[in-house]
Amino acid sequence: MTEIAETTQQSIDYAQRIPNNVDLANDRALQRALEHWQPAFLNWWNETGPVNTSTLQVYLRTAVSVDRDGWANFGYVRMPEYRWGIFLTPRDENRKVNFGDHKGEAAWQEVPGEYRSTLRRIIVTQGDTEPASVEQQKLLGATCPSLYDLRNLFQVNIEEGRHLWAMVYLLHRYFGRDGREEAEALLQRRSGDPNNPRILTAFNEKTSNWLAFFMFTFFTDRDGKFQLCALAESGFDPLARTTRFMLTEEAHHMFVGESGVARVLQRTCEVMRDHKLTDPSQVRGQGVIDLETIQRFVNFHYSVTLDLYGSEISSNAASFYTGGLKGRYDETKINDNHSLASDSYAVQEIENGRIVDRQAPALTALNARLRDDYTKEIQAGVERWNRIPEKFGISFRITLPHAGFHRKIGNFAGHYVSPDGRVLSKEEWERHSSEWLPSDDDHAFVGSLMGRVIEPGKFANWITPPARGINNLPIEFEYVRFS
Ligand SMILES: [Fe+2]
Ligand SMILES: [Fe+2]
Repeated sequence: MTEIAETTQQSIDYAQRIPNNVDLANDRALQRALEHWQPAFLNWWNETGPVNTSTLQVYLRTAVSVDRDGWANFGYVRMPEYRWGIFLTPRDENRKVNFGDHKGEAAWQEVPGEYRSTLRRIIVTQGDTEPASVEQQKLLGATCPSLYDLRNLFQVNIEEGRHLWAMVYLLHRYFGRDGREEAEALLQRRSGDPNNPRILTAFNEKTSNWLAFFMFTFFTDRDGKFQLCALAESGFDPLARTTRFMLTEEAHHMFVGESGVARVLQRTCEVMRDHKLTDPSQVRGQGVIDLETIQRFVNFHYSVTLDLYGSEISSNAASFYTGGLKGRYDETKINDNHSLASDSYAVQEIENGRIVDRQAPALTALNARLRDDYTKEIQAGVERWNRIPEKFGISFRITLPHAGFHRKIGNFAGHYVSPDGRVLSKEEWERHSSEWLPSDDDHAFVGSLMGRVIEPGKFANWITPPARGINNLPIEFEYVRFS
C-alpha cells in the first residue's frame, strides 16, 4: 500500500468530489476506490434513506473544519446533495498506545498485521450500525410533529450516513481488498431483513414512531457514544482520530433524544395538571402519551440497548484491551497502570434463582464496565427527566429497569427478571410482561397520535415546543422547505 503523507488539515477541502482532510488527492488509488463507492452509497441513500425527501431543502449543519470552535456551518441543503466526507481530528505526532501490552509504543499509523482481522471486525461492526439507524428511521418524516423535529431527524440521518463514510474510509485505506469488500457489504445488509440483516439485534428493531425515535437517540445513540469513546482510545491512530470527530456530531443526536422525551413528558404533565388526571386511559383521552406508556418504552429501549454491550464476561473484550485496540471509557483519564492484569470487577449473575455479585477478572469484564459507565450517564438523564413531573407535583417517576430485565445476551439471557430485579418463573413473566414492555395496543395508540405537522412554529398536541430553535434561530423558523 502506498504511504500517503497524512498531513491533516484543520479545514476540510470542499473543492474535492469527496470532501476530506486526509489529503485524498495525493493517493489516487484510494481516491478512485472511494469515488467508485460513492455512487453506490448514493444509491443506498436513495433506496433506504428518508423517503420522499429528494427535493426538500433542509436547514442542516455541515462540518467545515475539525476545529473545536466553529467546526460546522448551517444552511439549506437538498439531502442527496449533502457533502458527505472524511474528517479526522488532527494527528498528534507524540501520541502513544495508552493501555494494554503495547502501552508506551508510538500509536500505530498502519494496521499491525496480528490485529488486522480483529480491527476490521471492530470497524465493520461499528460501521454497520450507522446505515442501520437510517434505515430504521426512514418512514418517520411522514409523521413529524413539527418542522423543527423533522429537521433534527434529517440531521441525525445525514450524520449517520457520514459516520458510515468514516468507517468506510478506514476499510478502504487500511484493509485492502478485504476492506473494499466489507465496504460493499455495508451497503447490502438491511435493517430487519431476515435474509441479510444488520449485525446487531437492536439495529434490526423497528423505529416506528417518534416516541421510539426519541428513545432510540437517547438510549441507543448513547451506546454509540460509549463505543466510540472506547475506540477513540485505540492504539490504531486513524481509528482513534476518526471516532473522535464522530463524537462531535453524536452529541446532537443524544440531545435530540433527551430533549424529545423531555418535551413529551412536559406535554403529558401539563395535560394531567390542567385536567386533573392521573388515570392513563383518561390521559390518553386527551391525545397525549400517558406516563406509564413512556415508562414501558424506556424499559424496552434501555434493555435492548444493554444487549449491544455484549456478554458481561468476554475474552474478546479482554484481547481487544490487551492488544491496545479498544480502551475503557475515558481510558487516559483513569489513574491506574492501564493493564488490568491483576484487577477484578464486580459482575452480576444469577445463582440459584437470585441475582448475585461476583468478582471477575477486570480484563474479561470490560463489556460490563463499559455498560456500567453508560448506565451512569443514562441514569443522570433520567433524573433530569424526572424534574418535569416533580415540577408539576406529579408523583410518577421514570425508573430504569434492572440490568437483567428483558435481556437476550449475557448473564441474564434465558432468565426472566422483573424491572425491580426479581428473578421470575416463565409463567410470572408472561403474566406481567405487558405491564413492563410496550404492547401492540401501546404501539397502536402512540401510532394513532402521529400526524404530520409542517406549518412553521406549529407542534403536534402530544409534544411541547423546544426551549429554543436550532443555531439560535426562532422556533417558528422554516427548518424544512417543501418546494
Ligand atoms: Fe453514528
Ligand atoms: Fe448517532
